[in-house]
Amino acid sequence: MAIYVDEKRKLFTLETEHSAYQMIVDRYGYLIHLHYGGRLAGGDCEGLNAAGYMDFSPAPDAAGTYREYSLDLQYQEYPSAGAGDYRSPCLAATLAGGGRNLDLCYASHRVLPEKPALQGLPALHGDCETLEITLKDRYTDLEVVLLYSLFPEYDAIARSARVVNRTGGAVELDAALSACLDLPDGRGLDLIHFWGRHTMERMVDRTPLTHGKISVDSVRGASSHQHNPFVILCDHMATEDAGRCWGASLLYSGNFTACAEMDQSQSCRLTMGIHPAGFRWRLEDGEEFQTPEAALCFSPEGLGGLSRRYHRLYRRRLCRGEWALKQRPVLINNWEATYFDFDDDKLVQIARQASQLGVEMLVMDDGWFGSRYDDNRALGDWVVNTEKLRGGAARLCRRINELGMKAGIWFEPEMVSEDSDLYRAHPDWCLQVPGRGRSRGRNQLVLDMSRQEVRDCVHDMIYKVLSSANFSYVKWDMNRHLTDVWSAALPADRQGELYHRFILGVYDLLERLTGEFPHILFEGCSGGGGRFDAGMLYYTPQIWCSDDTDAIERLEIQYGTSFGYPVSAVGSHVSACPNHQTGRTVPFHTRGVVAMSGTFGYELDLTKITEEEKEQVKAQVKQYHKQYALINDGDYYRLTDPAKEDLTAWEFAAEDGSRALLNIVYSHVRSNCPPCVLYLRGLTPGARYRMTDDGGRVLGEYTGAALMNGGFRAPRARTGYPAGAVDYAAFQFQLERV
Ligand code: DGJ
Repeated sequence: MAIYVDEKRKLFTLETEHSAYQMIVDRYGYLIHLHYGGRLAGGDCEGLNAAGYMDFSPAPDAAGTYREYSLDLQYQEYPSAGAGDYRSPCLAATLAGGGRNLDLCYASHRVLPEKPALQGLPALHGDCETLEITLKDRYTDLEVVLLYSLFPEYDAIARSARVVNRTGGAVELDAALSACLDLPDGRGLDLIHFWGRHTMERMVDRTPLTHGKISVDSVRGASSHQHNPFVILCDHMATEDAGRCWGASLLYSGNFTACAEMDQSQSCRLTMGIHPAGFRWRLEDGEEFQTPEAALCFSPEGLGGLSRRYHRLYRRRLCRGEWALKQRPVLINNWEATYFDFDDDKLVQIARQASQLGVEMLVMDDGWFGSRYDDNRALGDWVVNTEKLRGGAARLCRRINELGMKAGIWFEPEMVSEDSDLYRAHPDWCLQVPGRGRSRGRNQLVLDMSRQEVRDCVHDMIYKVLSSANFSYVKWDMNRHLTDVWSAALPADRQGELYHRFILGVYDLLERLTGEFPHILFEGCSGGGGRFDAGMLYYTPQIWCSDDTDAIERLEIQYGTSFGYPVSAVGSHVSACPNHQTGRTVPFHTRGVVAMSGTFGYELDLTKITEEEKEQVKAQVKQYHKQYALINDGDYYRLTDPAKEDLTAWEFAAEDGSRALLNIVYSHVRSNCPPCVLYLRGLTPGARYRMTDDGGRVLGEYTGAALMNGGFRAPRARTGYPAGAVDYAAFQFQLERV
């Protein structure tokens, strides 16, 4: 498991535990992709799968009069535009003389014993070897440095590219993507991607590749609720447990594209990176442009295998800081409890009740600052409203701390309200095109985060609040997408840099604040899960998954999210019923079971729930603590698809097979419904397991093999077990190896 280089043939093989990635420099100097998939046992694929010849696919100049070679058909590592490859390029640039042709050839390579940091960008970390291959334009000194860092135990490869301009003149980058994956036959493949909308993020869409392009993207200035920068290619027949799956996940929170293209030759090209729409980057002579990183992962063990690889990779090699692996506190957030109508006494009352039930932290959401009495004003005025918090933030934290609880606070640093002191002082600090009106979203404008002085000002306000009181948590929100993308600080011909500079600015501010307050747990958020991506997870190890807190809808949202992201990243709370988004009423127990498969918390007024519900809160917190390690470090198995079954079942199994937790929630109740048999996963076949239900009743002892192969019939929602079960019933079964 390592990087192998055949120096003579310029054959590069990257081997992980279950995968191999191979490429070679061909006779014309092009870096050609040979294989990504199962291991090759020391062999190579050169000549096995060579691209053919087709009419109307031109030959590059390097091939002279030889007609049967075209970049249009070759499998490439970093294709560029202009020299006869008509598929999606990774790199498109305009050179000083106006020419747009590039002819990127192999120039050199080296194997580094570590992973170079990516300046200003999120990246996987940890000990790992990196293969660096430099390509150079045949006619100028424009270089592209390709980075491949290997994470063998996760079957993952981190890819990115650095464009270096040594041409002697300025180069305009029109597209600079992170990675390309050319697979020889797209006909047997499906694309899985995650679409959605506000309050219904990451719905699973699975579609066979068709001729042409399927493009999943965002041009909203954020990774967005609408699409997610994570896609999967897999065999048509791939299931949760079997089949080849290739994941591509972009560590980036701005505009992105993930495009799967099947062309005339039936080959499949997947390209991923910053969306070229609205992008143009001036690279002066001597300057470099670093693309975001894409984390590729291969699983020969189906979709479940792919997800478990990403879960481990992102927990251990993406999330950073004190909170990456530390147990997260059970929190109570006041948003759905009070909205803007709160003061310090009300918060303390909720905190007092919460502390008596075992909850560990109170998070004060939107509304504590400036004149923020509703969502039309005061964003940007990050100064405590002392009418609401008498005695300020320090006193509030003290009162909460005296109850034995931690305190958290909400910010929306990238935004400004027109009705705010910040806007009145600096009307030119928001994105706006000179002489034109601006679009408003939630009646707010977007601050120009590309500007240092804007970031400094926002930083100083947040810094002051956080250092004035004992806060342990920050929720970092972002409640509208970008429009009017123009910066007063950039010349007219460089406005194409703004989308990316905006995100670099956000990362810079996050890096600064998370570095200054390492003990604070940061949670990302964007109107729920509108910026739920691997880029944000580098700074905030958990992200509020969705503004939809309805437990039944959450089944689908959390199911979709689980394909690419670990449970420890998924902010999830028990909220009040009738639910504020759907009006649905779901049993308290069910709400707990669903929220527990995330960073657990509550989002309702605990002073207003019944005594019986209070007892349930106590029991849920106890159960969550008991199961914390299993839920967060265990292997996650999706046992049913909520869009296809009347019940949703999922399981956590300890990596060593010692225990498991089976969760079942009914989303539909039918009369006389047929039994649903669940086949458990991740157990030791020969070991015996004691099975216990939610009430601690022992149901029996079974071997792992019996539970996995024989199956377990899910209890029916209405009849039988437990007596008097209700709509949207939920069950948790514990399995302990005896
Ligand atoms: C959107 C978030 O997703 C909510 O949880 C809440 O924080 C509101 N913003 C506050 O404005």
